[in-house]
Amino acid sequence: MSRLLHPNLALKFGLALFVIVAGALGIVYLAVVPRLESRLVNAKIHELERASRSVVGEFRDADPLTDYQPLAQFFSSSLSARVVVLERLGADSRMISVADSNGSSSPDVGTDPIARRALEAGGTATGRIERGGSDRAEVAVPLDSATVVLLSAPLKDALANVSLVRRTLLLAGLAALGVSLFVGALAAWSFTRRIRRLEEAAERIAAGDFEHPVVDPVDDEVGELAQAFDSMRLRLAQLDHARREFIANASHELRTPLFSLGGFLELMAHEDLDDRERRDFVEEMAAQVERLTKLATDLLDLSRLDAGQLSVGRTEVDLAAIARTVGEEFRAIAEGSGHALQVRADGPLLAAGDEQRILQIARILVENALRHTPAGTTVVVTAEPEGGKAAISVRDSGPGVPERDHEHLFERFYRADGGKASGSGLGLAIARELAMRMDGAIELRSEPGNTVFTLVLPLSDVTESVFMSKGSIGAPG
Ligand SMILES: Nc1ncnc2c1ncn2[C@@H]1O[C@H](COP(=O)(O)OP(=O)(O)OP(=O)(O)O)[C@@H](O)[C@H]1O
Ligand SMILES: [Mg+2]
Repeated sequence: MSRLLHPNLALKFGLALFVIVAGALGIVYLAVVPRLESRLVNAKIHELERASRSVVGEFRDADPLTDYQPLAQFFSSSLSARVVVLERLGADSRMISVADSNGSSSPDVGTDPIARRALEAGGTATGRIERGGSDRAEVAVPLDSATVVLLSAPLKDALANVSLVRRTLLLAGLAALGVSLFVGALAAWSFTRRIRRLEEAAERIAAGDFEHPVVDPVDDEVGELAQAFDSMRLRLAQLDHARREFIANASHELRTPLFSLGGFLELMAHEDLDDRERRDFVEEMAAQVERLTKLATDLLDLSRLDAGQLSVGRTEVDLAAIARTVGEEFRAIAEGSGHALQVRADGPLLAAGDEQRILQIARILVENALRHTPAGTTVVVTAEPEGGKAAISVRDSGPGVPERDHEHLFERFYRADGGKASGSGLGLAIARELAMRMDGAIELRSEPGNTVFTLVLPLSDVTESVFMSKGSIGAPG
């Protein structure tokens, strides 16, 4: 079987259609044929029953010896039925015919059950019997306790109509089944062909081919599935692109310090160096190793963030204390680089978040303010409430970040200053993702002489309830 017509689906589809159509036809057949047959038979019996009244009247008034036979003949031709007068012999139930429109009395009616029933009940009996291979409608009316008139009409015509209807229904049914099988196979074929195309598209995407769009022109569920597949393809293509770029950037970033280290090692191995030069080289190498270590840590953080493996707690964290801590941590570095570092954080400012991650973000921001601004710049770390949230901000009076760089600044490996500084462009990307993990955000406002990066976090539950009740926060507790 061709791969286009998937054996299972097409078979199930065709079979289901076949069963439905056959079932429907069966129900129609059972509802129509037996009812039609019994209606036609009953109509014949009623016709005979109606006629029997005048027939019996005539027989009652007639002389059995001379009139019965001619009367039987007369009514037989006018009713198209056999007319027999039967008489019971003694106590046993055998009957003999006294008159019979069939001429010479035939013994076949001697045991007729309808006639016998009429005699036993003393009233009209009707029914359908089979005699001599043909079906007949019969009505028997007793003339007296021993004599009965039997009208017996063949049901051939009525039953012929029934069998015509039966045949027609069967033929129409067969035709309908044939058509349904054909249509079912056709529908299954077109359906499975579309599914098959989707399957091929999925296989292509799984094999890493994101070039070809997934298209299904029909506007139905399969069409919608194809659209969903295509969105998935585009998203995977984006992710694949980002992954390749990340690997390329990361290996480039790793290569630079490694290359520099290799150079120093070679120099130290081959050149005759005095103590001072050797010390300079070792210092330079230590800086490169530090850079490599930081890069490795940052890359690890990012990959953990991507994998969702970086745990971020949610406790009560005092942002004022964080501001003071980073102020202390960076005091010596700031002095060394000629920056004025100030901290403005008085009372506790309780935010909900992860203390170590908030410290990490604050360090990234302060380090940037010191590294990407010239000596003589003032850097201020502030912790204060901001619009119903807790915020820690790092402000500097440096040259700032051009407007066009704002939206890219938080992308991985992006450096606004074209990579002049020694950074890798990962700090802000990590900071933003960490902030988002804590339901927070990092905001940037920058103009020459005034650049502010602010980490905004939700207030801790306790602070929030105080804030809600007093309408203000930040009072020392
Ligand atoms: N306070 C600031 N003033 C001016 N430019 C800044 C400031 N902070 C960040 N930038 C710019 O944003 C870029 C991205 O910063 P980010 O912290 O992400 O990377 P980086 O500092 O270059 O490297 P690292 O990964 O080591 O942090 C920097 O390269 C710098 O150009
Ligand atoms: Mg940085």
